[in-house]
Amino acid sequence: MKHIFRQGTSDRVLLLLHGTGGTEEDLLPLSSLIDKEASVLSVRGNVSENGMPRFFKRLREGVFDEEDLVERTNELNTFLNEAADEYGFHRGKVVAVGYSNGANIAGSLLFHFEKSLEGAILFHPMVPRRGIELPDLDGLPVFIGAGENDPICPAQETEDLKEILEGAGAIVTNHWEKLGHRLTENEVREAAKWYKKQL
Ligand code: MLT
Repeated sequence: MKHIFRQGTSDRVLLLLHGTGGTEEDLLPLSSLIDKEASVLSVRGNVSENGMPRFFKRLREGVFDEEDLVERTNELNTFLNEAADEYGFHRGKVVAVGYSNGANIAGSLLFHFEKSLEGAILFHPMVPRRGIELPDLDGLPVFIGAGENDPICPAQETEDLKEILEGAGAIVTNHWEKLGHRLTENEVREAAKWYKKQL
């Protein structure tokens, strides 16, 4: 997968996953706000929706192509295993930072693979799939940034995601902003505070 890797000074790796229409450049400024010492692995989604990069296909807004989601989640997980070998980082030290479509594929990694991530910061995620049994996520820290007036991710979707992840043992913190789907500076700051305490 197309990506940027920047070697850090600690053994932590921040996996950056952009939103629809974004690139691997988008979330780079966030990494230094969250963890200046971590290595950074920023990946571009392999799917193109009318020229806009995404991490998996959707049938329409808010309705995912589940078969493609599962396939692309596998692809990303395999890519992470290979990148760990190539760059020599510890596969168990990867913390995802995803926005929107990127948060959804990060959520999907948690839904499908045990120990795929050490923790996750999900900005404006949805429930990636319903009705499946999750792997054991015992003690895994997850931050969810949500907007009270997000037309793409209704508040109930955020509450459902928290409940499903907690049902598998994750420790989930929801942070609410009064705005919509936009990623705000304040929620990034809140995520950075949470990260310092939890990881
Ligand atoms: C998605 O398709 O992953 C979500 O609807 C968010 C988006 O990327 O627009």
